[in-house]
Amino acid sequence: MIKVENLTVSFENNIILNNVTLDIDAGETMVIFGKNGSGKSVLLKAIAGLIQDYKGIIKINGIDIKQLHNKKALKNYDFNTAYVFQKGGLFDSMNVFENVAFPLRRKGITGDDIPETVMCSLKRVGLSGSEQKLPSELSGGMQKRVGLARAICVDPDIILYDDPTAGLDPILSDSIADVINQIKSHNKTASMIATHDLKIAKKIAEKAALLYKGEMVFSGSVYDFFNGDNVYAKQFIEAKLEGPIDIF
Ligand SMILES: Nc1ncnc2c1ncn2[C@@H]1O[C@H](COP(=O)(O)OP(=O)(O)OP(=O)(O)O)[C@@H](O)[C@H]1O
Ligand SMILES: [Mg+2]
Repeated sequence: MIKVENLTVSFENNIILNNVTLDIDAGETMVIFGKNGSGKSVLLKAIAGLIQDYKGIIKINGIDIKQLHNKKALKNYDFNTAYVFQKGGLFDSMNVFENVAFPLRRKGITGDDIPETVMCSLKRVGLSGSEQKLPSELSGGMQKRVGLARAICVDPDIILYDDPTAGLDPILSDSIADVINQIKSHNKTASMIATHDLKIAKKIAEKAALLYKGEMVFSGSVYDFFNGDNVYAKQFIEAKLEGPIDIF
C-alpha cells in the first residue's frame, strides 16, 4: 500500500532524510520514532504529497506519487490519503462542523450526507455537541480530536497521524489509540504514526522505525523494537544519556 524506496529530502544542503526505505500493507500500522527534529513530520509530509522536492520513490497502491503531483490527479489522490496535522491544522474562522465538513465539500459531496458523516465522525472522537464551537474555544486536546474527525470522515485508505496524542492526558491518549485501532480494523487503512508515546505505539502498531541523523537506524516489528538488542532502540526506550544517540 505504502512503499518508500531510498527517500532523500534536503532543505538548503541540510539532509533531513537519507535513503529511507519502508513498506506498509493495508491494515498495517507503522510507528515512527525519533528525537525532536529527526524528520518524522517531513517523512509523513512527503508521503502525503505535501513535500514534492525529494529523491527516491514513493508509491501508493503501486502508483508513483510523482505522477500525481499535477493538480487534476492530486484531487483524487488527496482524498485517499488523510493527514492529521501535528498542530491540529484547523481553520480558525470555521466552526467545528465546517472544519470537519471541509474535505467532504471539496470532494463534491452535498446534502444530507454531510451532516450525517460529520456527526458520525465527531461521535467517534467523543466530540458530539461541539459542532458550533470555534477552534479558539477548544482545548488543545479537543482541537486534535477535531483534526482526527476531519481525517476519518472521508474514509481514507491511508492515514498519516502526526503526533496524535501529544499534549493529551493519558486517558484521552488511550481513547485516541482506541479510535485509531477502530479505524484500522474497520477500513483496513495503512497507517503511519509519528509519536514519542511508547505506550500508545505498543497498543496500535505492528511495525516500528527509528530515525536518527536522517537514517532509519531501526526498522522492524514493534515487538523487536521493545525486546530486541538494537542499541539505538534500547537507548531511545530507556531514555539514557549514554549510547549512540547524541542528546543535541
Ligand atoms: N519546510 C522546511 N524548510 C526547512 N527546513 C525544514 C522544513 N521542514 C522541516 N525542516 C527541518 O527538518 C528537520 C526535521 O523536522 P521535522 O519537523 O520533520 O522533525 P520531527 O521529527 O517531526 O520533530 P518533532 O518531534 O519536534 O515533531 C528540522 O531540522 C526542521 O527544522
Ligand atoms: Mg514533527
